[in-house]
Amino acid sequence: MIKQEWKDKGFVDEAVPAGIDLKAEIRKLCKEKNAVILAHYYTEGEIQDVADFVGDSLALAQQAEKTEADIIVMCGVHFMAETNKILCPHKLVLLPDLNAGCSLADSCPAEELAAFKREHPDYKVVAYVNTSAAVKALTDIVVTSSNARAVVDSFDKDEKILFAPDKNLGGYLNAVTGRSMKLWNGGCHVHEQFSIEKIVELKATHPDAKVLAHPECKSGVLALADYIGSTANILKYAQESDAQEFIVATESGILHEMVKCCPQKTFIPVPPTSGPCACNECNYMRLNTLPKLYNCLKYEWPFVELDEAMRTDALRPIERMLELSKNLK
Ligand code: 13P
Ligand code: SF4
Repeated sequence: MIKQEWKDKGFVDEAVPAGIDLKAEIRKLCKEKNAVILAHYYTEGEIQDVADFVGDSLALAQQAEKTEADIIVMCGVHFMAETNKILCPHKLVLLPDLNAGCSLADSCPAEELAAFKREHPDYKVVAYVNTSAAVKALTDIVVTSSNARAVVDSFDKDEKILFAPDKNLGGYLNAVTGRSMKLWNGGCHVHEQFSIEKIVELKATHPDAKVLAHPECKSGVLALADYIGSTANILKYAQESDAQEFIVATESGILHEMVKCCPQKTFIPVPPTSGPCACNECNYMRLNTLPKLYNCLKYEWPFVELDEAMRTDALRPIERMLELSKNLK
């Protein structure tokens, strides 16, 4: 029985039994219920360690699409769980805490995008995956940071395009593709905070370090980067590079996998997590905790629900993206 108090809070707020091995119990529940845990690189290390699969937003959607599990637990944020539900309507999609939103997705309300479309019927709409299902339902194609450039390149050069909602990713795409897409004025509160001064200081003390940045960072940060890419591509670059030190301008959760993959290399987050500010952590991603994960598997709640007409409208642009991404490395 789901208590009203939990519904009000958006998660199962029940103390876990004292002395249990939470990770082992979570894995046991997954086996009993044929559930799969998908986790984004920005979640806490202990969440990543207990997951069946850890990835960037494209890989997580691809994984959801092909899973044979009956239950998907999305340790990430709400739009990621929605994407899974859009792709897998007959599966139960759990999100350990319904409060795990996304400031970038919030920066593009569906009504505002609908108004733009009414005023600009000649524009194609390309939407970043960090959007609500209601927004995706209004778009022509969805992109993630892994495939955005290839998707934008697939449009005719003279096509009028609105790119929403991330103005930094959109500006970066305009620069690398030579386009002049109209940009929605949205942004991520984590990636907007990375300071150019901090990176310059770190470069001075670590002159051989490569700067790795997520394209959601501001253009001044991207201008300092040796490599710009999605979380998965940043990780791949670090693994394949001969460099030994890396200054990482994205959510610091990615360092968990970086250190695991390359224990001999040094990864420096911007700004350092040891400082008084933890603003390189996404407060939404960090709402995923082991007790909430255990409880949501136990009670099979909270889950994501979608209106069927909206789901089918949102499915089309996601399927287009997945089709275009099939051959991407
Ligand atoms: P990725 O597509 O690189 O996983 O990024 C998702 C995200 O939310 C970045 O802030
Ligand atoms: Fe959204 Fe930013 Fe958190 Fe990514 S890091 S989930 S864009 S708020």
